[in-house]
Amino acid sequence: MAPSFSSALRKQQLADIDLLDLEPDTDTLLADVIAGLSATPKTLPCKYFYDARGAKLFEQICELEEYYPTRTELGILQDNLEDIAKRVGPDCAVIEPGSGSGIKTRLLLEHLHDPVAYMPIDVARDQLLDYAAQLAVDFPAMDILPVCADFTQALQLPEPNRETQNRMIYFPGSTIGNFKPEEARQLLKGWRQLLGDSGSLLIGVDLKKDPAILEAAYNDQKGITADFNLNLLKRLNRELQADFNLGQFRHHADYDEATGAIRMWLVSKEKQQVNINGSEHFDFETDEAICTEHSHKYSPDDFITLAAQAGWQTEQMWTDENRLFSLWYLQTG
Ligand code: AVI
Repeated sequence: MAPSFSSALRKQQLADIDLLDLEPDTDTLLADVIAGLSATPKTLPCKYFYDARGAKLFEQICELEEYYPTRTELGILQDNLEDIAKRVGPDCAVIEPGSGSGIKTRLLLEHLHDPVAYMPIDVARDQLLDYAAQLAVDFPAMDILPVCADFTQALQLPEPNRETQNRMIYFPGSTIGNFKPEEARQLLKGWRQLLGDSGSLLIGVDLKKDPAILEAAYNDQKGITADFNLNLLKRLNRELQADFNLGQFRHHADYDEATGAIRMWLVSKEKQQVNINGSEHFDFETDEAICTEHSHKYSPDDFITLAAQAGWQTEQMWTDENRLFSLWYLQTG
């Protein structure tokens, strides 16, 4: 069948995109899973939630009544776009580690003053290229420069065609909360060094609050978060020839006062053995749990301290009327 006009156009758009390809190798999934399941308590890295189905389920989580972060952050952004654009200034290059977060990124790009370039960084190459091609159509005056890479590793950035006044990293969604505080500090320090002496960071951070609100957000009534959590095992069955029986694990999330984090768990319903890749065997006791995610919540003071330790100077924090979520503008100094 001849390609449709729109698929031919898409191919052409993709061909026009300059990709900086630093894609990591895939053997790390197996090594990470074996290391995590050999630890006490057992763990699995949350970055592996986001296969195609996991990414879709996460989009559904963002729409849930109980999951306040997405809509609250969007509201904060909408309410403060003018102030944000003024602080960022003209001729800025926006760098976004992690998949484009759709509506928030577009809103930001639409309101900045004559932005020079947008650089999304992600490991999912196909999604990244599609996203870049779409943005290139919607923002023809801007260089769209995707980078296929794991953003937690040392980064290289492409050079835009026009001179920039400010290179700004945009890191919404409180993804910073999924790193342990020490890892978060290292990540922010690395970005501070990457930008040198004239750069900034616009970052979304979920705030500490009544644990009942937090626990409801991660144990939603419809069970979407449970599906999202269990989907990780489905992915390991498919990609690592594992034999997790999904019916034998249940989702659980709790708030740990000591660390200020929501923890997500997959709890074994009975004593069982799981095999991976035909050669690795892991025993589970009844009620033994795998920790699959930490989602750290910060007080404003906690976050100012963390950012300062990483070399960032706080310029502004915006929040909502219930102080559920925060958006920060930081500068390199
Ligand atoms: C991506 N990240 C900030 C989400 C969070 O809230 O920690 C992931 C998530 N896990 C369960 N629900 C949402």
